[in-house]
Amino acid sequence: MNDFTATSLAHAAAHILATAEPAEKVRLSGLTAEAWRGGNLTPGTANNLADRPARPINPPLRPPSEVPRRRINTSTTGRVALLHALAHIELNAIDLAWDIIARFADPEMPRQFFDDWVSVAAEEAHHFALLSHRLSELDAAYGDLPAHDGLWESALVTRHDLVARLAVVPLVLEARGLDVTPAMIAKLRAAGDDRSASILETIYLDEIGHVGIGRRWFKFACAARGLEPARAWRTYVATYFKGALKPPFNTDARDAAGVPQSWYAQAP
Ligand SMILES: [Fe+2]
Ligand SMILES: [Fe+2]
Repeated sequence: MNDFTATSLAHAAAHILATAEPAEKVRLSGLTAEAWRGGNLTPGTANNLADRPARPINPPLRPPSEVPRRRINTSTTGRVALLHALAHIELNAIDLAWDIIARFADPEMPRQFFDDWVSVAAEEAHHFALLSHRLSELDAAYGDLPAHDGLWESALVTRHDLVARLAVVPLVLEARGLDVTPAMIAKLRAAGDDRSASILETIYLDEIGHVGIGRRWFKFACAARGLEPARAWRTYVATYFKGALKPPFNTDARDAAGVPQSWYAQAP
């Protein structure tokens, strides 16, 4: 695809959401982040945003029970399944960041709002690229295995409300990533896969920042509505997140992201 000329950041975000091919989504994410940081785009607004981002034909989306197990050992099969599942999460995460800009951005929001979500989108694109490259080193590619659609389901049920979106996506789902990633890194190291382990370390550190950004704008959106953040978070999670919050929690990483234990310790 040729380069397109975005009239605004929200327009570029909508265009990236409508781009199915992952490598192109990554490339346009980088170009858009550069244009925004260079002062070449205004925030703008997006029209006619689809409920779902465009997706490539592969991978097919299946129920979680039909997605291959991610055993982490010296055999490549389970590690490829893990890296593929993580690549799928990162592809969704690119779209989730652009969707916040396209769907919820009000040009009156502070510039920091756009700076933050542009940096999240650019980092998610980098994560996808790292995992995709690692898959290629293992003679695999994103699209080779089925994947499941759970992440976008959370986006759909929260598409009407920024407070609900932030309560669930960064502050439940990405925070959950902080809980489970250190064990994956340790298992990859134990299996002798230092290259994959290093990629997950990069992702892990960036994700602490993403949870922190989610928390910052959740508090901002709560303040705008006169909501008390801890109570609002519990109420929104009970309404819009269908699973249970699963301990053990990585309290160090959550603390580093500014999410206090008092929020999730008493969660529903
Ligand atoms: Fe990520
Ligand atoms: Fe993230």
